[in-house]
Amino acid sequence: MSKTHKIAVLSGDGIGPEVVHEGLRILEAAADRWGFSYELTEYPYGTEHWLATGGEDGGEIFPDEAFAEAQQHDALLLGAIGDPRAPVGLIERGVIGKLRWEGGLYINLRPIKLFDERWCPLKDKSPEQVDMVIVRENTEDAYVFPAEFEDEGGPNEVASQPMRYTRAGTERVIRYAFELAMTRPRKELTLIDKANAVRAQDIYTRVFEEVAKEYPEVKTDHAYIDAACMWMIKNPEWFDVAVTTNLFGDIITDLGAMVQGGMGVAASGNINPGQFSLFEPIHGSMPKATGKNTANPIATINAVAMMLEHLGETEAAAAVEGAVADLLRSDRVKGLKAGLHSTSEWGDMVLEQLSALSV
Ligand code: IPM
Ligand code: MG
Repeated sequence: MSKTHKIAVLSGDGIGPEVVHEGLRILEAAADRWGFSYELTEYPYGTEHWLATGGEDGGEIFPDEAFAEAQQHDALLLGAIGDPRAPVGLIERGVIGKLRWEGGLYINLRPIKLFDERWCPLKDKSPEQVDMVIVRENTEDAYVFPAEFEDEGGPNEVASQPMRYTRAGTERVIRYAFELAMTRPRKELTLIDKANAVRAQDIYTRVFEEVAKEYPEVKTDHAYIDAACMWMIKNPEWFDVAVTTNLFGDIITDLGAMVQGGMGVAASGNINPGQFSLFEPIHGSMPKATGKNTANPIATINAVAMMLEHLGETEAAAAVEGAVADLLRSDRVKGLKAGLHSTSEWGDMVLEQLSALSV
């Protein structure tokens, strides 16, 4: 009897519940077909819950007890967090931030894979030329420290939030990226930073060089973040695996999402290897599209595939990824933009592809 996977579900704000619903339909079908079992625990956190429990007057964001309980699961599937009815960043930092930083999910893994050249906005780029993984550091950098405002609103106001990196935090993400590069045919790894201007990032330069000595088979390269943005558009085929800091990783993966066909397809894993990890689409909550059944759930379905891989359900993971790939290569798909197919229609189409796969 195989193990029952314990999966926490946090659908969150906006279109989160709609896309997660489709992701869970795929999970259920995969479990039936590949014979594994799972239990779901749903968590209500997000802006609606914060407002319903008092909002500015002490509304709940993510209580410590629930946070500790969620971490007892094998994985968490998250929809989206963010809503203009809450102060900027409050719920994002309190839910996603807390899970990533306090939960020790130190890798943010963001594959950028083009399934069909119709979806690439760049001229003459084929799927062979857009197939990379960005390894984004997920627990440090300008993200994790509170902002400080001295003399707020005054003429001498000073605002700061440090870009701070530890050796342990830097080394573990770089090591993970080398290990990942070793599993890929090209075995290439690019370090992306801005050490020429942000001298604190010299720690990335040095640690990368040190760790590289342990992986002589990996071909290494380096690009500053500004140039990397340019290469991502001009020559995406230059990238195989890339490792970068939290903030730069956030930015370049939105760019990467566009190159692979848009926010409708881009998924990510927030990973603590072998431990509780979180999987989510990289898009936001699209408040205006809420409840309209227009959001594209493919990113969430791709996140489910990543989650299955993490859970050790390798065949099911490959099948879900394969079903999405087959669908996106087929003529059935009119386009990836929200509304061209309804959210539930996308789910139906992936389910059909999944049952058409021969195992
Ligand atoms: C992402 C998002 C988050 C981030 C936001 C919601 C805080 O943009 O996952 O990329 O900046 O990390
Ligand atoms: Mg982002």
